[in-house]
Amino acid sequence: MEFGFRKEHLLLKQMLEEFTVNEVYPLAGEIDELERFPTETVKKMKEAGILGIPFPTKYGGEGGDTMGYTIAVEEISKACATTGVILSGHTSLCAQPIYDYGTEEQKQKYLVPLAKGEKLGAFALTEPNAGTDASKQETIAIPDGDDYIINGSKIFITNAGYAEVYIVFAMTDKSKGTRGITAFILEKDMPGFSVGPKEKKLGIRGSSTCELIFDNVRVPKGNMLGKVGYGFKIAMKTLDGGRIGIAAQACGIAQGALNETIKYVKERKQFNRPIAAFQNTQFVIADLATKVDAARMLLYRAAYKKDLKVPFSKEAAMAKLFASEVAMEVTSKAVQLHGGYGYSRDYPVERMMRDAKITEIYEGTSEVQKMVISASILR
Ligand code: CAA
Repeated sequence: MEFGFRKEHLLLKQMLEEFTVNEVYPLAGEIDELERFPTETVKKMKEAGILGIPFPTKYGGEGGDTMGYTIAVEEISKACATTGVILSGHTSLCAQPIYDYGTEEQKQKYLVPLAKGEKLGAFALTEPNAGTDASKQETIAIPDGDDYIINGSKIFITNAGYAEVYIVFAMTDKSKGTRGITAFILEKDMPGFSVGPKEKKLGIRGSSTCELIFDNVRVPKGNMLGKVGYGFKIAMKTLDGGRIGIAAQACGIAQGALNETIKYVKERKQFNRPIAAFQNTQFVIADLATKVDAARMLLYRAAYKKDLKVPFSKEAAMAKLFASEVAMEVTSKAVQLHGGYGYSRDYPVERMMRDAKITEIYEGTSEVQKMVISASILR
């Protein structure tokens, strides 16, 4: 399905398919089993220009667009959802808001090394008491001369520890609610900034997910992203784009599991014939393939609208909502069609089923996507 693809997208897709087969697939099982961050793959993504696809070349990027970035996350996630989320967290949640809201100086200092892949990025919004209700930020930033002093903590931060640049949201005026939140760019080495132990997760086990602790971190006022009190809007707009990345990850996981299953049902024989010859198998495969294509249509529509620079919050939420549910259904049925082997860690569908679950949770749960969609329809 090549909805809205231009020649450069097709070339990029081909490059990504080869990259995934050669560099991502061979490590996917190992990094999951060992819960190991794939540092070597990230280095190869940097060399291949994958970490800066949608940014202009003058900022170190590849001069591509959201559709190209979407293709990259989807292709990589077909083999490894861990690597997919490392790419999407870095690109849409860290580099993108610096591109959208950063000053020229911030772009030169932070976006250029991020887009070139010299540095990895992360996004820090979630706190113990501010998950779905992201407005309840308890991290505080208090002005002090030319700086802000930041105190507090964040949890479940993707790329934590490996990222060198963090977009951090903090309360600068609690009395103003969401309009009292401000965004800052923090560096890993800033004194008082530390990273907690890695979370033990159900899936995407190679990705690094940790707590961040800010103990009197002194951040220059020049590192404020956007204006004072504009942080919540930056977070929401950034997440609109991020949700396209997670929908792409979900489509990738679903297609990856479907591909594994198609291969398996053609090889596996029971009752003297391949299980692909049974109508139950055929109908399940037909249903799943149709749903993956439908999810992909929603995904590409959202990416297309973002590239057109027209409102796309609703479309991104629909794509993430539907694609993540499809990823759960496809991976679960993929395990079922593999029978006992599907429950074994020797077959990748077991990992894919565990990986799929997070797509219904992060960057806004399915319930949050329904809030965004219904608010857009009923307003
Ligand atoms: N674009 C621009 N502005 C937006 C917006 C958007 N998409 N959504 C809301 N806003 C604005 C509103 O217009 C409003 O502005 P005004 O003050 O000018 O009126 C302001 O933000 C507050 O809006 P709401 O009253 O709608 O906000 P709310 O507190 O009710 O929250 C919510 C709504 C949709 C539930 C929101 O809190 C939300 O998205 N929660 C989920 C958070 C989330 O996705 N977290 C993911 C963490 S990151 C992650 O998961 C990364 C990873 O690991 C990979």
